[in-house]
Amino acid sequence: MNPLTFFGVLLVAAIPSGVFGQTPVTLSIKDTSGPTISRNIYGHFSEDLGRCIYDGFWTGDHIRMDVVEALRKIRVPVLRWPGGCYADQYHWRDGIGPREQRKQTVNTTWGMVSEDNSFGTHEFLQLCELLGCQPYIAGNVGTGTPEEMENWLEYLNFSGKSTLADMRRQNGHPQPYDVSFWGVGNESWGCGGSMTPEYYSDLYNRYSEFCKSYPRAPLKLIASGANGDDYHWTESLMKHIDRGRTWGISMHYYTLVGSWEHKGSATNFGEEDYFKALKSCLRMEDIVHGHSAIMDKYDPNKRISLVVDEWGIWTDAEPGTNPAFLYQQNSLRDALIAATTLNIFNNHADRIKMANLAQTVNVLQALILTDKDKMLLTPTYHVFDLYKVFQDSRSLAIQVKSPDYAYGGGKIPAVNVSAARDSDGVVHVALVNLDPAKKITIRTELPGISFGAVQGRVLTSARFTDVNSFEMPDKVKPAIFTGARKEGAGLLVELPAMSVVVLDLK
Ligand code: AHR
Repeated sequence: MNPLTFFGVLLVAAIPSGVFGQTPVTLSIKDTSGPTISRNIYGHFSEDLGRCIYDGFWTGDHIRMDVVEALRKIRVPVLRWPGGCYADQYHWRDGIGPREQRKQTVNTTWGMVSEDNSFGTHEFLQLCELLGCQPYIAGNVGTGTPEEMENWLEYLNFSGKSTLADMRRQNGHPQPYDVSFWGVGNESWGCGGSMTPEYYSDLYNRYSEFCKSYPRAPLKLIASGANGDDYHWTESLMKHIDRGRTWGISMHYYTLVGSWEHKGSATNFGEEDYFKALKSCLRMEDIVHGHSAIMDKYDPNKRISLVVDEWGIWTDAEPGTNPAFLYQQNSLRDALIAATTLNIFNNHADRIKMANLAQTVNVLQALILTDKDKMLLTPTYHVFDLYKVFQDSRSLAIQVKSPDYAYGGGKIPAVNVSAARDSDGVVHVALVNLDPAKKITIRTELPGISFGAVQGRVLTSARFTDVNSFEMPDKVKPAIFTGARKEGAGLLVELPAMSVVVLDLK
């Protein structure tokens, strides 16, 4: 059980069906002190893959400021780069120095395309500076060496005199970059080298020995973690790695409708695939719980973080695009998946200290799609906009007993919730209704929470397949929510079918 369930938000089926014309529920939020929801749970991922970097963040010889401005609005806290699988084929020296002299390489991981390395270390860190976010660099274990990793850190973070630090100065950055978040490989069980957890643990200990903290940037080392519910991987790492020098262990879990071979369309699907996707998304709760329980055995004080540094829905690529580029459209369904997953993370803020949606622009569950000089914000972007109020707020614990959304003999909870109080004392409540047909009425009790007014925003649309396109970029976008009102000391909320609502109680 999530330890937070002792504290606070209680969602219980209470009022008989029919009173409001649909299944009503009661939500009780008690004001208690839960863990802080790290802003880094709202992190993102930008791999050198398809059109994420080139065409997405970077065009010609410059960073796209339209993309930067959109991402600044949602307060991106941390950005992961250069992969992904690509991290274990990336050699940092290929991407520094005068651009016209950079090595031409082949991206053998993603589509065998030529890589001119015009976007390298300095460009990525300039992007982070423009976004006002922390960089999270994934170092190369698969085809790299401990020396190469050690040198990259010296190049980035040493403020004194050395050949590598001088090279950084010569390349235009006199001050050290102070990079703290550092991944030691990626998916080392798969594309990162097909290792066993024991073998990887040995390599992690060896590589991390040479990852030095420079005075202004204590390293936060992140070990390459499990594939979904591979609990053996986590157990083995917790046993064998040097936990004293480890800040986090990662875990990757993607929402999948079908199989890896037949993932299904991002836009052309019916209720069966809608339901399957949501069911797959909700497995995140069990998987996080499973890894956390193992980590608790070795680290009861929760010093080591679970870092979900890849998550999101993975569908077939859009027809007519290079399948290796993983370009997919983004529907209202995906927004519900994002909000549900963020609720799960908010409710596990005691162990999850960072998460990174895959991937920011033009790849998988993207926030932004670009087409030459045009760009659009996806429904998933709008969820991050609604949820930004949770960054660094104090979580209020939840226990949810929701009405079911049933389909084809299966069922899932229709409603999921998270709640938190921010540093100004405002209570934020995020509610998601996954049922595609039924609105749900919720009555709250709020012992210990006094508020004068409620306001909120809602994200919904007529169909779960609705997307934002370059022809209709604002089809799915947030609106003022008028379905919540104060009723006595509590609230009455009419949650529309397939909607995300974030309320502010002031
Ligand atoms: O995000 C796409 C890929 O998915 C990443 O490169 C890899 O880590 C994962 O398998």
